[in-house]
Amino acid sequence: MRPHGYGYIRPRYSPDIVGLCNSARMDTWRTALVKSDATGLWIRGHDIASLMRGASFTDVIFLLHRGRLPSDGERRLLDAILVASADHGAGAPSCATARLAASGNRESLSAAVAAGILAIGDVHGGAGAECMALFDAMATRMAREGLSVDEAARHVVDDARAGGRRVPGIGHRVHTTDPRVEVLFDLARAVGVAGHGVAAMIAIERAVALRVKPLPMNIDGALAAILHDLGFPPTAGKLLFIVGRVAGLTAEVTEEHTREKPMRIRIPVVYDGEPPH
Ligand SMILES: CC(C)(COP(=O)(O)OP(=O)(O)OC[C@H]1O[C@@H](n2cnc3c(N)ncnc32)[C@H](O)[C@@H]1OP(=O)(O)O)[C@@H](O)C(=O)NCCC(=O)NCCS
Repeated sequence: MRPHGYGYIRPRYSPDIVGLCNSARMDTWRTALVKSDATGLWIRGHDIASLMRGASFTDVIFLLHRGRLPSDGERRLLDAILVASADHGAGAPSCATARLAASGNRESLSAAVAAGILAIGDVHGGAGAECMALFDAMATRMAREGLSVDEAARHVVDDARAGGRRVPGIGHRVHTTDPRVEVLFDLARAVGVAGHGVAAMIAIERAVALRVKPLPMNIDGALAAILHDLGFPPTAGKLLFIVGRVAGLTAEVTEEHTREKPMRIRIPVVYDGEPPH
């Protein structure tokens, strides 16, 4: 409670609340990520000074999420994923949303970047999380029912069609061939990381061509395959796309502020409601 004209009034808490606040449960947060003291800072036990001198940003992202530094091959792959996710032009939902927010609210850079992140989800930039969950389900089914990867993928596509859902990681608004997919898979094979994730995603693409129509695998599907094979959990399929896309969102917002006049965006809207009366 804040002091006011009549003096500070001490808040009265029930004995239960006071007991809870005094207990370790309320006072202590657990973390295995970062430790700091008056003169030092350690990420997963690694001294910040040595990381700053010897590690890349990608190394530290891997370290934070996986608890260890990456091998050369792992670093190369995660770096390629982050580069591939960085930006896809002002018309991509996350970039367009960040620009709209930057155009209407010139006071808050962070609000514009956050608005861009809020546009990332199951259809844009986040389909990888669902793909990774599917790879796990496919592996379980392959082991339990003795299915091949192609048979398991056909079940994935049939289940999606039966439920009226689109298959995650497949299809693109712009590309007929997503130029990022083959690069990631080539790199994964070259460094010996390509495993079940890559095989499962390629099988899903084949099954969609068979059951629906030929559609390209997209970046969400490709990064999901690689992150699965790198041992990341399904949540990484969305979160690491966000890490990469923040690079682009910050540039999109900066360009909007520096090159465009405030509230410059005029979206062509067709009114098809009741005539004015
Ligand atoms: C990305 C996406 C939104 C593009 O949608 P779009 O521009 O409408 O796609 P297209 O015009 O090329 O194709 C339309 C038709 O192809 C089919 N199709 C497209 N993507 C499909 C998918 N992932 N699964 C099944 N069918 C799909 C549908 O039959 C669709 O017909 P409909 O409009 O009657 O539903 C869409 O492919 C999709 O939802 N993909 C899954 C989510 C995803 O991976 N997002 C990441 C994108 S980088």
